[in-house]
This record gives sequence, C-alpha cells and structure tokens, in this order.
Amino acid sequence: MPLVTHEIDDGIANITIDRPDKLNALNATVLTELRDAFQAVETEADGVVLETAGDRAFVAGADIAMFEEMSNQTEFMEFVRLQNRVNDYIEDHPALVVAAVDGLAYGGGLELVLATDLVVAAPEVPFGVPEVSLGFVPGGGGTQRLPRVIGPNKAKEMIVTGNPISAEEAHDLGLVNRIAETDTVQQAARDLIGEAQENAPLAIEEAIRLVNEGMDASLDAAKQYEQAVAAYLYTTEDTAEGIRAFTEDDEPDFSRR
Ligand code: COA
Repeated sequence: MPLVTHEIDDGIANITIDRPDKLNALNATVLTELRDAFQAVETEADGVVLETAGDRAFVAGADIAMFEEMSNQTEFMEFVRLQNRVNDYIEDHPALVVAAVDGLAYGGGLELVLATDLVVAAPEVPFGVPEVSLGFVPGGGGTQRLPRVIGPNKAKEMIVTGNPISAEEAHDLGLVNRIAETDTVQQAARDLIGEAQENAPLAIEEAIRLVNEGMDASLDAAKQYEQAVAAYLYTTEDTAEGIRAFTEDDEPDFSRR
C-alpha cells in the first residue's frame, strides 16, 4: 500500500501522507513517495494541499524506530540528505503549496511545514522541535528555516526547550497563516489556494520564488532579481490581459503565458 497518495481536482492537488498508525512519521519510503507525488503533479496543478491521514497528528517527526535500526553514521546521513532534498524540492515546487495541519507537527513534521509556502492549522495543534530531548538537533532544515520565519530568539527557545507552541501562538509569530476548525482545515487550505488562483499564475509562481530566493541573497542582489522578473512578466500575455481587464473594468482571463 502506498504511504503517500495524490489526486488532482480542479487544478489543485491533494497530497496525503497516509501512515496514521505511526502518526505519519517520516521514513525513507514516505519521503521518496512524497517527492514522487510532488513531481507527479508538477505540470498539472497550480496549487497543492499537503495533508495527512488520521486525527492525532499531521506528522510526529522522523521515524525514531528507523534511527534505532540504523547501524552507522552513513545511513543516518543518507536519511538526513534525503529529508533535505525533499524539503528543498517542496520549497522550490512551482505550485503554491499549502500545509493543512490538523494534528501535531513535531520535528521533521514541523520542518516539512516550514518547506511549504503557506500554512493553515487547527487552533489547538502543537508545533514543536523536540529533537534535543533525543540527543539530536533538527536536521531537516529546522535550525535554519524556523529562525527565518519566527526570529532567532523564539526559534532558539523552541529548539533548546523542545516545548511546543500552539497553532494560535504560531499564528501570532507568522508561522501559521490561517486558523480553521479541525474539520475545515483542508477546505480552508483549498480556499486559500483558490484566492490566489484569481490572480495571474506566472506572477504567483515568480513572486514565491522571489521571496524564497531573496531570503538567502543580499538585499541589493534580490532587488535586482526582482526588477528582472518584473520586467519579464511585463512581456507576458497575462500581464497584457490583467492591464486590459483593469482598463475595461472586466474580469481577467489568465492563460499562464
Ligand atoms: N517515529 C516513529 N514512530 C512514532 C513516532 C516517531 N517520531 N511518533 C509516534 N510514533 C508511533 C509510536 O511509536 C506508536 O506506535 P505503536 O502504536 O506501534 O507503539 C504510534 O506512533 C502512536 O504514538 P504514541 O506515542 O503511542 O501516541 P501518543 O499519543 O501517546 O504520543 C507523541 C504522541 C507525538 C507525543 C509521541 O508519539 C512522541 O513523542 N513521538 C515522537 C515525537 C518526536 O520526538 N519527534 C521528533 C523525532 S526526531
């Protein structure tokens, strides 16, 4: 049975991690299937809702039983590299990726959330990085992406104490975009993508790329890149259509060209 499934409905993909008996813990099979699912929808979906099965957990982290079975550091590094490749792939994915978090997101689960573009969560869901309680540090990008989103001091506090924060606190810190009741989280994620889909798809894709790449560049270099992208988009049919629709007080009909 697959551990990750995907389906596309009306231009939006639902990718589901389906390992509820282990609280959707991430092992190499889950990560490989997750990357394959994102790859499979790459040319067909403008948006992806990333969700998981069961009602307890979004993802309870990397699979601790797997760490116990590993016999050397090379095996451990292979897993960490895979986890990073998958998170980077999701971050760079051209679709707008929204995490629908309706259960706890710990360790690698929070790192997965940090690789998505936007986050919708149920109010009581805890977000945490408990790795130090096991002797690890977060290895899937957590020590780097978390401080970029919530600031270094709060990130350090979460990492060194391992104490989770609630979705509402995560919302106040900018880690969660929207709060929705548990049974509406997936629909709220879909609605968020729907709001974006009213706009020009190439512009959305380029805007997300600009934000992501700009976070790692100097302000000057990032602004230069922004100007080049803005100038490129000016030449596209969709910008002409957007300007036409505005001028004629009409609804734009964007074509991704
Ligand atoms: N890796 C592997 N298996 C995990 C797991 C993980 N990260 N998290 C939960 N599971 C498994 C449990 O072993 C258990 O399996 P079993 O029924 O075969 O024994 C099942 O999922 C249910 O978990 P359980 O611990 O019984 O649920 P709980 O409601 O009592 O506790 C947690 C939930 C999340 C508090 C607890 O599972 C936990 O602390 N998990 C580890 C979180 C973590 O440290 N993540 C970072 C990993 S680096």
